[in-house]
Amino acid sequence: MLDYIETIKNEVEAFPITDEEELEAFRLEFLSRKGKVQTMFSKMGEVPNEEKATVGKAMNEVKNLAQNKFDDAKEKLEKKEARQVSALDDLTLPTAPMTVGSYHPLTQTLNEMKEIFYRLGFSIADGPEIEDDFHNFTALNFPPNHPARDEQDTFFIRKHDDPEEQDLVLRTHTSPIQIREMQRREPPIRIIAPGKVYRNEAVSPKSYFLFHQVEALYVDTDVSVAELKETLISFAKLMFGSDVTYRLRPGFFPFTEPSLEMDIWWEANGDGKWLEILGSGMVDPNVFKSVDIDPEKYTGFAWGMGVDRIAMLRHGINDIRTFYENDTRFLEQFD
Ligand code: DAH
Repeated sequence: MLDYIETIKNEVEAFPITDEEELEAFRLEFLSRKGKVQTMFSKMGEVPNEEKATVGKAMNEVKNLAQNKFDDAKEKLEKKEARQVSALDDLTLPTAPMTVGSYHPLTQTLNEMKEIFYRLGFSIADGPEIEDDFHNFTALNFPPNHPARDEQDTFFIRKHDDPEEQDLVLRTHTSPIQIREMQRREPPIRIIAPGKVYRNEAVSPKSYFLFHQVEALYVDTDVSVAELKETLISFAKLMFGSDVTYRLRPGFFPFTEPSLEMDIWWEANGDGKWLEILGSGMVDPNVFKSVDIDPEKYTGFAWGMGVDRIAMLRHGINDIRTFYENDTRFLEQFD
């Protein structure tokens, strides 16, 4: 037994401790609950009574040796650390270059859009990303069998067979925020609502299952199509510059009548094409009815624009997925 104790003593003495890692390795090896010192003491039962005193003393010596070695080494390491910190106190030393982060290109674009609409008199509204069927579809005048409700396009959170209960979905557009605003307060309403939207689409350079929209809604007693056009054109000029080439063409949405879509002419490498940036229109009377606003008294316009599309146009990016990969080599180009 005494030989065994001697071996452990030698091991304790030989164990090198030069850094935090080795200090911890030492603790685990000798001082922890399953370490060699405890294991040694657990053998006390095997020792004949007349030898217990000698063996106990030897064991205690090893234990103290290990504990002292640990305490000393720990103190030394702490002092060393403190010394290193004080070396930093030399204020004349040049500092290492510091990398300052930048806003994500989508955030930058969104911030510019917010700024523009703030100038045009819109305030900001918000809504949940998990929506119920009523706000995402029904109140927006989607017929019960509309293809957008199909699982091809919509991520369902909860589906019900019971017609009394509502399906829950990841919102497929920011338009449900219109509904929430109109339920929440009386006209006049003049808001934009930026946010994430989700669609169960095949991922490709052109589409991703997640993207960003900015919804807008303006409801008052005499809102006209002319005002809608004027607002959209002002936006395009402020966002892309006064020489921007745009076109407005008729579109179709269940929640607007008439509906308009806006395209921007985009040229890159001598090649040009029209890119759709938003859908818009005059709020359909059925939508007003679903939120108890009198369509005889009020009119309004609304639109939903794609933030990712606009950011891609502005920066000449041709793959939407690059926004979501968190590759700093891409992101740091947008300082
Ligand atoms: N919600 C439509 C979409 O995601 C975009 C849209 C079109 C929003 C017309 C509107 C609108 O508010 O009036 O494709």
